Amino acid sequence: MVVSDYRKVLVTGGTGFIGAHIVDNLLSLGIRVRLASRSLKKAQQFIDARPETRDLIEAFEIKDFTSLKGNENPFLDAVEGVDGIIHAASPLDYSVANVEEDLIKPAINGVKVVFEAALTEPNIKRVVLTSSFASVMDVSKGPGPGFTYTGDDWNPLTYEESIKADPVIAYRGSKKFAELEAWNFIKERHPSFDLVTFCPPMTFGPIVHPVDVVEDLNLSNATLWDIYKGVSPLPVSRVPVWVDVRDLALAHVKALVVEKASNKRYVPSSPEKFSYNLAAKLMKDNGLGSNITIELPTEGLVPEGYDLDYATVERDLGIKFHSFEDCILDSMKQFQSLPSKK
Ligand SMILES: NC(=O)c1ccc[n+]([C@@H]2O[C@H](COP(=O)([O-])OP(=O)(O)OC[C@H]3O[C@@H](n4cnc5c(N)ncnc54)[C@H](OP(=O)(O)O)[C@@H]3O)[C@@H](O)[C@H]2O)c1
Repeated sequence: MVVSDYRKVLVTGGTGFIGAHIVDNLLSLGIRVRLASRSLKKAQQFIDARPETRDLIEAFEIKDFTSLKGNENPFLDAVEGVDGIIHAASPLDYSVANVEEDLIKPAINGVKVVFEAALTEPNIKRVVLTSSFASVMDVSKGPGPGFTYTGDDWNPLTYEESIKADPVIAYRGSKKFAELEAWNFIKERHPSFDLVTFCPPMTFGPIVHPVDVVEDLNLSNATLWDIYKGVSPLPVSRVPVWVDVRDLALAHVKALVVEKASNKRYVPSSPEKFSYNLAAKLMKDNGLGSNITIELPTEGLVPEGYDLDYATVERDLGIKFHSFEDCILDSMKQFQSLPSKK
């Protein structure tokens, strides 16, 4: 099977940072996309920005996963006539008041409704789920170096710990328990479709989703923009690993068809480590960060640390990862050209 054998793919979170790149990859192959969004207006803005592929995308309105009640399933109609699903939508908001109700349960319920609905459409061959390195990382193992996280590793956080934690840790729980929901569904319900999950670390890169002003960039890219503007002190990343959004999106689409990806869990990441110091240096060295005035360390710019099993993604899915330099420069050149509130 080849990707172009897919006639229509349902994409959730397609108006978001990662999902939009996934949608564009599908469209570039001539594959029809049903774009599930909580906002038809946002979905329409996305479609209008791509006049040449307007006929290939249709918007489908869904409810916020936070407000799903009982057996309500907004995806029963959304799956009709699709032969694959890429589920990228998940809440990510570190300012929530109730982490269980606003982060953890909605992430799990989102998976539940998508998978329950998928059972009703016999044409669906595969579901690809965007999980996160947050569902893999075991903080008790420390920063490394000396070990490599693979798709066999799971964050040991319990549900009880997650609901009592601050939003950053609770988000890690939301991704772990949402992904587990998907794997348990496959194990217990034996559907005719299979599953591929991706557990990406920090994701950076140029944007293709609707962003009106540079101040509205997604969280990971907003940090790069803060550095460009001269934030001091520089932020310190919680993890030394990252992936370019373009590589991650391509991996999702290739995973729809690669036979050996069936029921596999991948940790897509660049072979290079990163730090925000390195991002700042790359901006400065390339004349993109005239506001970066602080003295950068000359040594230890790239932290030592644990590795991620990027090689399996390269081998199984044929992904060649962008360099951090390309990612930073491509992103900053684009962000500079976005309108600003000021
Ligand atoms: N960005 C990263 O660094 C990173 C790293 C690892 C994993 N991830 C994972 O990658 C996926 C996509 O992330 P992203 O960075 O592209 O995020 P994003 O830009 O915020 O996009 C996520 C999309 O999900 C939908 N969504 C969010 N909350 C929802 C809710 N409560 N109910 C229903 N839909 C909701 C939204 O679509 P509508 O507004 O159109 O409904 C939103 O555009 C997520 O699963 C995230 O956990 C991201």
